Amino acid sequence: MAKRVYVDNSATTPVSAAALKAMLPYFTGAFGNPSAAYSYGQEAKKALEESRRVIARALGAKNNEIFFTSGGTEADNWAIRGACKLNEKKGRHIVSTLIEHSAVLRTLEIMKEQGWEVTLLKPDPLGRISPEQLRGALREDTVLVSIMAANNVVGTLLPIPELCAEAHRGKALFHTDAVQAVGHIPLAVRDTGVDLLSLSAHKFRGPKGIGALFARLPLIMPPLITGGGQEKGRRSGTENVSAIVGMAAALEETLQNLEEHTRRISALRDRLIAEVVKIPGAYLTGDPGKRLPGLASFVFENLEGQDLVMALDRRGICASSGSACSTGSIDAPHVLLAMGYTPDRARGALRFSLGPDNTETDVETILAILPGAVEQVRAKNRLNRGSG
Ligand SMILES: Cc1ncc(COP(=O)(O)O)c(C=O)c1O
Repeated sequence: MAKRVYVDNSATTPVSAAALKAMLPYFTGAFGNPSAAYSYGQEAKKALEESRRVIARALGAKNNEIFFTSGGTEADNWAIRGACKLNEKKGRHIVSTLIEHSAVLRTLEIMKEQGWEVTLLKPDPLGRISPEQLRGALREDTVLVSIMAANNVVGTLLPIPELCAEAHRGKALFHTDAVQAVGHIPLAVRDTGVDLLSLSAHKFRGPKGIGALFARLPLIMPPLITGGGQEKGRRSGTENVSAIVGMAAALEETLQNLEEHTRRISALRDRLIAEVVKIPGAYLTGDPGKRLPGLASFVFENLEGQDLVMALDRRGICASSGSACSTGSIDAPHVLLAMGYTPDRARGALRFSLGPDNTETDVETILAILPGAVEQVRAKNRLNRGSG
C-alpha cells in the first residue's frame, strides 16, 4: 500500500522519537511510584519534577503553577468547575463563546443545570471574538471568562491578551483552552495574563491521555479529583510518570524548532489554501490572516464533509470534516454554524491540519487527488438524488 498522507494533526499527532525515547525507561527500569520513599520512587519523583520544570519554563510559568491532568478535557473541566467554586460568593455568571470545544461547552451546560448563568459570545464570520464584545457581556456577577486561544475547526487565533485584560477589568478570572495553541504558536502565560490555561500533550507529539492545567499563583484551585493527595492535594491519582516525561520532552523539542517549523508549515498551508479555493464551490473558512500555522479549513458546496473524508481515505489521505466526534455523528460543525454558515454549507466542511512530518510532496499529492474526490462525491450525490 502506498504511503498514507496524514493531515489530521489537530486531531492527534504521532509521538516524536525524542518523546518516546525519554518515556521508555519509566515503563520498566524506573517504574517506581513517585510517592514511595525508596530510591525507585525517588527516581520517578525526580523525573516528574524535572518535567514540571520543563513545562513551566516553556510557558513562562512557575513550577508550582503546573498541575498534571489526564489531558485537555480534564484540564478544561477543572478550570471551569474549580474557578466557579472558588469564586461563587462573587456571583454565578460565566462568559464563554459558541466556538469552544465540547470539553468546555458540555461542562458549561452542566454548570447551567446547577444554576449558573452562561453567556456564549457569537463569533464573526471569520471565527473572531472581539474584546469589545466581551466587555458588553461582562456583569457585576461574572466570575469566569473562558475563551480558547486557537479554534480547532477553523484555526482562527483569538486575541487572548486583550480578552484577558477585559475580563480582569471586570474582576473575573480568565481561562483559556490552549490545547490547539501550545506547541504551535508562541504563548507565555505572563504576557497573556491568563489565570488558567489548559494544554494537552497529544497535540504536540507527546502521548495521549496526559495534559496540564496552569493555575496562576496565588490561585488555589479546589481539586476536581480527590483521593491520595498527589499534586499537592489538588489532583489525586498516581502520576502517569512516563507520559508526563514524554509530554515534557515533546514540548521542549517542539518549541526548540517552533520558528523554523512555523515558517515551513505555513508555506505549505498557504499553497494548499491557494490551490484548494480554485476548486469550484470550495471556500476557505476561518481568519485568512490570523490562523494556526498548519491549519487549512474549507467548506465545499453540494457535499457532506464526511463523505469527502471517506473518499480521501480510500485514496490514502487522512483528513477530517472538522467535527471529529467520538459518536461518529455527522452533525454540521457547531463552530461553522455559530460563524453564520447555513447547516447545508457547514456540513461540507473539510480540515487539513499539517504537522512536522508533512512535506511539499504531501501537499502536491492532496492537490492532485482532491478535485477528483470532490467531483466523485458530488456525482454520487447527484445520482442518489436522481434515483431518489
Ligand atoms: C480545543 C480543544 N480543547 C480540548 C480538547 C480535548 O483535549 P484531550 O483530547 O486531551 O482531552 C481538544 C481535543 O481535540 C481540543 O481541540
